[in-house]
Amino acid sequence: HRRERNIASQVRNRLPQRMLDLLKEAGELGTDMGWEVYAVGGFVRDILLGRPNLDLDLVVEGDGIAFARRFAAKLGGRVKAHSKFKTAVVILDDGQRVDVATARLEYYEYPAALPTVELSSIKMDLYRRDFTVNALALRINPGRYGQLVDFFGAERDIRNKTIRVLHSLSFVEDPTRILRAIRFERRFDFQIGGQTMRLIKNALSLKLFSKLSGTRVMHELQLIMNEEDPLACLLRMQELGIMEAIHPLLSLDKERVQILTELVKVHNWYKLLYLEPPVVPWKLYLLGMTMGIKRDQIDQVTGRLHFTRREERDFFQLRDQIGEALMKLMGWKEGRSRLSRLYKILHPLPVEGILFLMARSRKEYIRRNISQYLARLQYVEIEVNGKDLKNIGIEPGPIYAIILDKLMTAKIDGRAETRHEQLNLAKKLNKELSARFEEESGD
Ligand code: CTP
Repeated sequence: HRRERNIASQVRNRLPQRMLDLLKEAGELGTDMGWEVYAVGGFVRDILLGRPNLDLDLVVEGDGIAFARRFAAKLGGRVKAHSKFKTAVVILDDGQRVDVATARLEYYEYPAALPTVELSSIKMDLYRRDFTVNALALRINPGRYGQLVDFFGAERDIRNKTIRVLHSLSFVEDPTRILRAIRFERRFDFQIGGQTMRLIKNALSLKLFSKLSGTRVMHELQLIMNEEDPLACLLRMQELGIMEAIHPLLSLDKERVQILTELVKVHNWYKLLYLEPPVVPWKLYLLGMTMGIKRDQIDQVTGRLHFTRREERDFFQLRDQIGEALMKLMGWKEGRSRLSRLYKILHPLPVEGILFLMARSRKEYIRRNISQYLARLQYVEIEVNGKDLKNIGIEPGPIYAIILDKLMTAKIDGRAETRHEQLNLAKKLNKELSARFEEESGD
């Protein structure tokens, strides 16, 4: 019997009490039901790496769905079961999610070439996974709590900072793992191991990537964009020829690397200030990745990435809006142009578009004013509404929208800061506009 290192003290030190309670409850329930229960995957990897990770994945050597139901009943929560895969998600009342999988006998048949006899089901479950660092399990049943199950040398690979597959068909079975390898390598500052790198190159030369569906590629790209340093991953992809493999138009040239570098900076600045609304990283970075692609070619990329009609329309529209805004921004001069003009240029854009403009501008004062817009201007509200206009005797109609818009402009430019000033301005505008309106209809 293999020796298993006990890491209970690390577990205790690195996880919040709530998570420790969940592990204990899950382990006790497992024993009650007569099954071994393990925490697995990224959760265990991140305990060893000392990185907080509250995505708990459990594997039950028994009936995962039955376990999940009892677990939810015991702790308070609901269950979404997938009977086809014998998995379940438990959503506890405080919002914590726990994924539960079943290590089951059927796993013995997969992959086909394996000697099947002496493998425990947890070993088979772990063997199906992508990399050694993700193929760790932690026992949580009472009596064995905290024992680390490491069949494949994951601890050694973590010590040596290596990303390594478990078997040579790993990338053939699932080419998205190539992108996962890069993502983990860059995230943890690890190195893809020598043999694993040969297998990646082999998979690429077999053009396995071109067989991947756009949806799956896009999903992996999104995960990459959610990383702390997406550019590091994209550069590594470029180096290995993966950008071209996805689509030749996506090859990273100097100009794109430059804009992506700026995008990362601007995005980090934005995250640091906790500004609203939240950024959808892929929308931001895809703008940089597709910079310079002409209108009549861009649909090749969105087609390859399997965008829906709607996603495609939104993305094209965003690119067009940005182009328009860039033109207008060129004419905007600090001190000479009104702030309200900047507001009108930026206001129709989603935050990803605004951040892209910030990254794109070389002029320092444009960047500074865009940041002003994000930090302050975008939240400006006037002190007057339609009801107020009615109360001061303005006849309801299309004129309301015009007046309210002009009040906003005046407030942004500092010409009507208070409610009093705004009401006065509204009256004045009403007179002018109605006079003009009568003049026009009188013609
Ligand atoms: N997995 C895999 N092959 C894939 C995707 C996932 O083998 N193409 C396995 C990995 O072993 C992983 C587990 O499924 O540990 C869960 O996947 P996921 O939640 O994506 O991975 P994490 O390791 O938790 O990654 P992250 O830290 O990015 O959440």
